[in-house]
Amino acid sequence: MSNLAIAPSILAADFSRLGDLVREVEKGGANRIHVDVMDGHFVPNLSMGAVVVHGLRPVTSLPLEVHLMVEHPSLFLEGFVKAGADSFIFHIEVQANPLPLIRSIRAMGKRVGLAINPATPPESLTPYLTEIDLALCMTVWPGFGGQAFLPNSPERIQKLAGLIQQHNPRCELEVDGGVDFKTAPLCVSAGANVLVAGTAIFAAAEGPEAATRRLTELTPK
Ligand code: DX5
Ligand code: ZN
Repeated sequence: MSNLAIAPSILAADFSRLGDLVREVEKGGANRIHVDVMDGHFVPNLSMGAVVVHGLRPVTSLPLEVHLMVEHPSLFLEGFVKAGADSFIFHIEVQANPLPLIRSIRAMGKRVGLAINPATPPESLTPYLTEIDLALCMTVWPGFGGQAFLPNSPERIQKLAGLIQQHNPRCELEVDGGVDFKTAPLCVSAGANVLVAGTAIFAAAEGPEAATRRLTELTPK
């Protein structure tokens, strides 16, 4: 049985058809839905808030994973929890000591992940790996969908995979940005086991359901 998880990023979806598109990726075998939240400060773009999670909650039984690309993640947790979020990922770059926030997310009964930007060394996550459920390696600079996968990403993923193996093998390793049918296998062989894909799924000529299904068929090393 494959332990690869596919997390379609709805940032790339047509928002006028969001509910239907989420149903399609669910049929295609998606394992969770990735919700990209941007504040215009941590990243130079705005995206969506808790209302979108609230709207999707009755549409899908998949976990809703909230990727907080924001300067002040603690401000938004309660709203997203009330809306029905299942897990939170925040960036280590905004939190000198991420432990209190990790623990408050846990205390709300939610799963927690820590993300690193392309210039942040994977080793910066080491002290927290035993405390988190997921480590997210950004494979583009966050802020926009549809960007090209950064070529040094496999090296960074591999480094992070080694640290996870050493400190907390149950921690998931997620990759996010420019993940498509060409780059996904590189991520998987470097040790990633959760793939976020926006454009590759929602802009696929074959449609989101078939594209999701094809991604689920990739096998981890
Ligand atoms: C980037 C977001 C990603 C993005 C992925 O800021 O965190 O989740 O939507 O989109 P694609 O797959 O199009 O690069
Ligand atoms: Zn994301």
